[in-house]
Amino acid sequence: MPNASDPMQTLTVTLGPRSYPIHIGGGLLSNETLWAAARERPLRLITDAHVAAHYLQPVATALQLPNTSIRILPPGEPTKSLANVEAIMDWLLETRLPRDGWLVALGGGVIGDLVGFCASIYQRGVDFVQVPTTLLAQVDSSVGGKTGVNHARGKNMIGAFHQPRLVLADTDTLKTLPRRELLAGIAEVIKYGMLGDAAFLDWIEQHLDGLLELRDADIAYAVRRSCEMKADIVARDERESSVRALLNLGHTFAHAIETYTGYTQWLHGEAVGTGLCMAADLSARLGWIGRDEADRCIALVGRSGLPTRPPQGMTGDDFGRLMALDKKVASGQLRLVLMRAVGDAVLTADFDPDALRQTLAAFTTAAD
Ligand code: NAD
Ligand code: GLY
Repeated sequence: MPNASDPMQTLTVTLGPRSYPIHIGGGLLSNETLWAAARERPLRLITDAHVAAHYLQPVATALQLPNTSIRILPPGEPTKSLANVEAIMDWLLETRLPRDGWLVALGGGVIGDLVGFCASIYQRGVDFVQVPTTLLAQVDSSVGGKTGVNHARGKNMIGAFHQPRLVLADTDTLKTLPRRELLAGIAEVIKYGMLGDAAFLDWIEQHLDGLLELRDADIAYAVRRSCEMKADIVARDERESSVRALLNLGHTFAHAIETYTGYTQWLHGEAVGTGLCMAADLSARLGWIGRDEADRCIALVGRSGLPTRPPQGMTGDDFGRLMALDKKVASGQLRLVLMRAVGDAVLTADFDPDALRQTLAAFTTAAD
């Protein structure tokens, strides 16, 4: 186990010439040594207004950035749009960022996904730095190179794989994060324990209070272990042709909830919390894990303050219809990530549909 009290921890995402470090710790934003490589480049920084209010000044100072190299966008999911991609392309061309220039994404997953995508297409691709400031972005979206924007016909429907050059996860930034956003990130942390590391799930159970109170050592370890697991999976399957799909534990149920609620009422991580409960329940109904183990996972999600049941009024039929739209459907067959043991997930189409119907019935109201 890593030493959780280390001031800064560094991991590597191993992808040959596209390998990059993830630095995790407090006070990283103003650490000029970590910014040394970036400072040698022409830079453009993009952030959102919430994040700018708290963290733009230390980063701009460390990078010696003039205001003309900074763009501040409105916060929120609608910012992840093709219209903003076009506006950013205009700005990069107007301000003549050369091909050896770098973009800096300072913010949560919305800014990281948008800026990463802009970096992937500007002059056929420039490098970029992820500076994630939400727990969800620090444990998931800033690592692994999935970038993109939303389309009116679907979330994340336009995008590219484009790995960052560097990830700087300054855990001090989480201190200003709204409570709901923190919990949404904790759902993804629980996901890592359930999908690949039973000992980490034990650790989360024991340290949940520390995570909710943002105790430095607990947060640093949770971010580090999550990134370590993601880095390992991405190194084995960068483009999601096999094991990377396991990162979607609970997500097929979650995406159905997000689509049902129009992406406005539930945060992604909240839907993932409920999706993890449903995946655990189904794994127990299939006899792959014990009922006590499923109940334990559901209790952990609930103890975190995350929802453990879908929204009022959502029926099993709603789930059936919306889950059929999932990207993991192959040859018309629904595939789900389930647990064959706690800490051991598998992507499978080989499950009893009656068990799925029972899970949906147990978690929803009946159709009228
Ligand atoms: P977000 O970027 O919208 O940030 C959430 C809110 O918190 C925003 O209002 C933001 O302004 C604010 N905020 C951010 N950091 C803050 C801080 N330190 N202090 C105070 N406020 C702060 O949301 P998110 O949950 O980080 O990211 C969600 C996005 O990530 C979604 O678009 C989702 O599709 C994407 N995502 C991508 C991947 C991937 O692999 N690329 C994985 C998971 C999610
Ligand atoms: N968030 C899932 C992935 O990066 O593959």
